[in-house]
Amino acid sequence: MLIAGDGIGPEVAEAARLVLDSVGADIKWVEREAGSTALERHGSLLPDSTLEAIRECRTAIKGPITTPVGTGFRSINVALRQDLDLFAAVRPARALPGVPIRHPFVDLVLIRENTEDLYQGIEFERDSREAAALRDELEALGGFHLAEDAGVTLKPISVAGTRRIVRFAFEYARANRRRKVTIGHKANVMRYSDGLFLRTAQQSAMEFTDIACEDVAIDHLTARLAVRPGDFDILLLPNLYGDILSDLCAGLVGGLGLIPGANIGWEYAVFEPVHGSAPDIAGRGLANPIAMILSGAMMLRHLGRGDAASRVEAAVDGVLRGGDVRTRDLGGSSTTMQVAEAIAGRAAA
Ligand code: NAI
Ligand code: MG
Repeated sequence: MLIAGDGIGPEVAEAARLVLDSVGADIKWVEREAGSTALERHGSLLPDSTLEAIRECRTAIKGPITTPVGTGFRSINVALRQDLDLFAAVRPARALPGVPIRHPFVDLVLIRENTEDLYQGIEFERDSREAAALRDELEALGGFHLAEDAGVTLKPISVAGTRRIVRFAFEYARANRRRKVTIGHKANVMRYSDGLFLRTAQQSAMEFTDIACEDVAIDHLTARLAVRPGDFDILLLPNLYGDILSDLCAGLVGGLGLIPGANIGWEYAVFEPVHGSAPDIAGRGLANPIAMILSGAMMLRHLGRGDAASRVEAAVDGVLRGGDVRTRDLGGSSTTMQVAEAIAGRAAA
């Protein structure tokens, strides 16, 4: 199932499709729309027919979608995560050959809880009736004083929500021959949310004696990532910290055009690059297709085609190492499709 998306989406989607078809993975593509084309034709950014097709295929790869400015639109990514219960975001950050970066030994995978925490969307606007009611309730419950002019966002973290992301992370570690999981948290300050996350994670981790487990305070972890990212293997993080540190990790390995991602639940999986629709370069063949192509490799591995996935990844490495075929963001002058053709040629060989 393929959703091309907006902006550079159709360009990088065509590129990824060419590469995935070149490795003989025999994918039967079902194409559906989401984003601005879907809005024009079906009156919805995420038509029911697109959601249904994902449910039928169970696995999808999508290009980026432009979030229309203005109110009344629910973010497509939030809608997909909630409607399909895609509770785990997986973002590998690996140093690629021929891409100059500060730390050459980065090879880590960030796994982020995707449904709870400060991003669950439970908010109370300042001066609202609800905020006033909450203020009274908090006063009655424990003598907590909420400032009259405060807005509030809640941070729920549940045992069940934590258990499933921990199980996912350790099973991912096993399946991908990873050795260590590092849990990031601020358990000493937020005892009942991060504290619960940490304790539940440590308990669940005991079932996986073959994988090492450590925990590091999130602020300390950020500093250590900037200085010695090679110390880390899998990072397991609640939603907000995961969002912030995935951009740090993208920065560590050379930028948005290179980072693939996946949103995974027990039933469905949606693969997508981390970057957005890049309207500033859309339609001109300038987009780097590698993030989308590597998202495709993640999808192949998820579908049990690890052999084909490895060939795609090796072909990406080979083309980057060669140095003469690369898009403008990496200092080259090749087009999106020239990069895709070079990668497809190597992957097929
Ligand atoms: P962006 O990631 O689209 O662009 C940021 C900068 O990186 C731009 O200068 C762009 O040219 C460059 N860039 C991004 N991907 C590239 C690639 N593959 N090759 C070469 N250069 C690339 O982020 P921005 O501008 O904040 O967002 C643009 C639109 O994308 C917004 O409507 C936003 O809501 C949407 N978006 C959608 C996402 C999704 O559907 N998963 C994720 C992030 C943003
Ligand atoms: Mg983010």
